[in-house]
Amino acid sequence: MRFHVLTLFPEAFAQPLQFSIVARAVQRGQINIDVADIRDYTHDAHGTADDYQFGGGHGMVMKPEPVFEAAEATLSGYDAAERAQIPVILTTPQGELLTQKLVEELASSPAIAIICGHYAGVDERIAEGLATRPVSIGDYVLTGGELPAMIIIDAVTRLLPGVVGSPESVAGDSITTGLLQHPLYTRPAEFRGMTVPEVLLSGHHAEIDRWRRRKSLERTLEHRPDLLSTASLTNDDRRYLAGLGYAPPDAGQVEGRGADHAQD
Ligand SMILES: C[S@@+](CC[C@H](N)C(=O)[O-])C[C@H]1O[C@@H](n2cnc3c(N)ncnc32)[C@H](O)[C@@H]1O
Repeated sequence: MRFHVLTLFPEAFAQPLQFSIVARAVQRGQINIDVADIRDYTHDAHGTADDYQFGGGHGMVMKPEPVFEAAEATLSGYDAAERAQIPVILTTPQGELLTQKLVEELASSPAIAIICGHYAGVDERIAEGLATRPVSIGDYVLTGGELPAMIIIDAVTRLLPGVVGSPESVAGDSITTGLLQHPLYTRPAEFRGMTVPEVLLSGHHAEIDRWRRRKSLERTLEHRPDLLSTASLTNDDRRYLAGLGYAPPDAGQVEGRGADHAQD
């Protein structure tokens, strides 16, 4: 997988991607991170890459010419058929929310280009005529698209075959399974008076699996009950959740909630 990042701040990428699993993926040639400096594609002696807004307003806007030219130069090595398969992501709080589903989709691309906005944002013609995939990493606003780009690179990289040692660990992650993951413990079995649940030391694999599943359901109900409506649940799961007081929305809950709100 090749990542092509377009940024005004290439130095931001020097350290954060040079450790642990992502760095190993680079060393093994599983990924390649190519960071292009948009300022190299400006046309004046000052390297002007942003300008005032037409119509007035606060904050500078990134100019279209250097971003288009940086993208064209970066992607010039691909033929038209390959180019058509490469998502050109624009990082923006206005984009589609980055979810594990979107990460999985991106991981099947041959390459990904990521445009990092900055200041007040980018000229709208970049969104109209260059980017194919506006992506937001969450409902908050950052100073630039550099951290979102790194998050996308990290999340996609760990899904690529052979990057994470055991594929089972990736498959069992929170969200990926549709639920939050069960609690994890390692040695020592007792630490500052806090003990590891007995069942995990028992060696009874069926019991351990059952405990983990139930903890996963409990946590999801507590922290992300919204996930339960789309999670793949067994009858045993449903019975357990019902015992915890969970009633699925299709069991009259939606109407019930609507009625509550109507009284607000
Ligand atoms: C200060 S923000 C600009 C926000 C813009 N004025 C707006 O209201 O949509 C500067 C840049 O940071 C990046 N950015 C900020 N928040 C982001 C988010 N939640 N997801 C992805 N990128 C974000 C984008 O690249 C954006 O162009």
